Amino acid sequence: MKQKPYQGMIAILDFGSQYNQLIARRVRESQVYCELIPFDVSVSQILKSKPRGIILSGGPASVFDGNAPFPRQEILHLGIPTLGICYGMQVLGHLLGGEVRSVSEREYGASELYVDEETDLFEGISSPTRVWMSHGDQVKRLPPQFRILAHTSTCPVAGMGDAKRKLYGIQFHPEVVHTREGRRVFENFLFKICACTKNWTMSSFTEFAVDQIRKNVGKGKVVCALSGGVDSSVTAMLVSKAVKDRLECIFVNNGLLREGEADQVRRTFAHSLHLNLHYVDAEERFLSKLRGLADPEEKRKVIGEEFIKVFSEEAQKMGKIDFLAQGTLYPDVIESLSAKGGPSATIKSHHNVGGLPDSMHFKLLEPLRDLFKDEVRGLGRELGLPEDIVKRQPFPGPGLAVRVAGEVTRGRLQILREADKRVQEEMKKHRGFEEIWQSFAVLLPVKSVGVMGDQRTYEYTIALRVVTSIDGMTADWAKLPYDILEKISNRIINEVKGVNRVVYDISSKPPSTIEWE
Ligand code: XMP
Repeated sequence: MKQKPYQGMIAILDFGSQYNQLIARRVRESQVYCELIPFDVSVSQILKSKPRGIILSGGPASVFDGNAPFPRQEILHLGIPTLGICYGMQVLGHLLGGEVRSVSEREYGASELYVDEETDLFEGISSPTRVWMSHGDQVKRLPPQFRILAHTSTCPVAGMGDAKRKLYGIQFHPEVVHTREGRRVFENFLFKICACTKNWTMSSFTEFAVDQIRKNVGKGKVVCALSGGVDSSVTAMLVSKAVKDRLECIFVNNGLLREGEADQVRRTFAHSLHLNLHYVDAEERFLSKLRGLADPEEKRKVIGEEFIKVFSEEAQKMGKIDFLAQGTLYPDVIESLSAKGGPSATIKSHHNVGGLPDSMHFKLLEPLRDLFKDEVRGLGRELGLPEDIVKRQPFPGPGLAVRVAGEVTRGRLQILREADKRVQEEMKKHRGFEEIWQSFAVLLPVKSVGVMGDQRTYEYTIALRVVTSIDGMTADWAKLPYDILEKISNRIINEVKGVNRVVYDISSKPPSTIEWE
């Protein structure tokens, strides 16, 4: 019988390292399903998920801290192969009878690793090999039955293992790209030590997810807010594959979309992919609500509230609906699980379809909640979505309203659309386009003096924002070649009426954010 894609999973116990999601992504890139699990998970829960292996992640703590996080000790004695990474290795050292010591200087950065035993975990790894270190403590004395597998010039035990019990620890981070043979180390652990099979593929996931959705929804009806973004598009396609025309999609044109976007979404989903698409032209409603508002949070709030009203009205016309399908992804799930309570500052109130009125009691359907963004794109391809949708850059729910700084008017929106269209056209020609997370224009509420022909001009400024990022949480401004910047600037200033200046935003996140509002 074919294995289910979730079978033979790896449980990653989360000790809070900033690299944890990367560990999970690396494991999944090797086609093995894994989940990040709170470090203090109970033994029975671990046993229930039947993992083939356990990874103890890194983390900022030291085993000597008064409130240092430790896993339930029995977990290390279940006979499940275990790999401790950085803090995870120190946990193994400390709990299994070795000795961990603080070193006076924290080791951070690239190091040469020498392999002492080229068996299982380090099979096929060159010696020396470049690895990435980031730690303050070290294992000084091995726990009984462990052997040293690798060292660096400053860290005598950089890799340790007890092949009999299948317990391993490494002091470096195999998940970051700076560790040259990190992928091989993971694959040795997954396939040689844990005997995992490569069954996590988007085609096996599709089969499984469709089956689950069918069981879950039964004869019910599903509604989905389709924005044309990757997540909602893939959600809609997946659910429609499962329940066919019992899925109704609502697409709200809030008047804050980019040039040609509303038409593109209608064409793709209604005409090519034959989904039940309810198109709502709500441009006037949104723009009249936004009149006179300049404060970013007020604008976001009004748009969020209006969206919920429009969406609810439309859904009510459809008779009884049982489920609301949403494109929640795994990083959102992890974030909400690891939010340790406590008030955290709201930087921007994000827009989504949560918060629907109580009178509309839908059950939630979140078929992408186990997937990372790159997996969602793979799934989109598997489901036959066109490449221009699959590769789409993220676009904020409040749309161009947060890119027209200050008050949003029809006139300003039109200037921004014209400018943004040129940014899109030129960026698509850029050879490094794949590495760009987002590229867009922002209209500033600033006018400046220029000269065109022999005439004085006094017109708006466009800021060009182009960033690279892995997940939108942090971002770097893209070091674009000058000729692209020049081309974009020339085209905007010469072709877009109302703009006489273009500036390039060279701020990273943090401390700036990607969107201007
Ligand atoms: P910031 O501006 O906070 O944006 O650095 C991080 C990422 O989130 C996108 N973004 C949004 N996405 N609803 C969304 O679905 C929103 O309200 C929203 N605001 C920002 C932004 O484009 C970037 O990718």
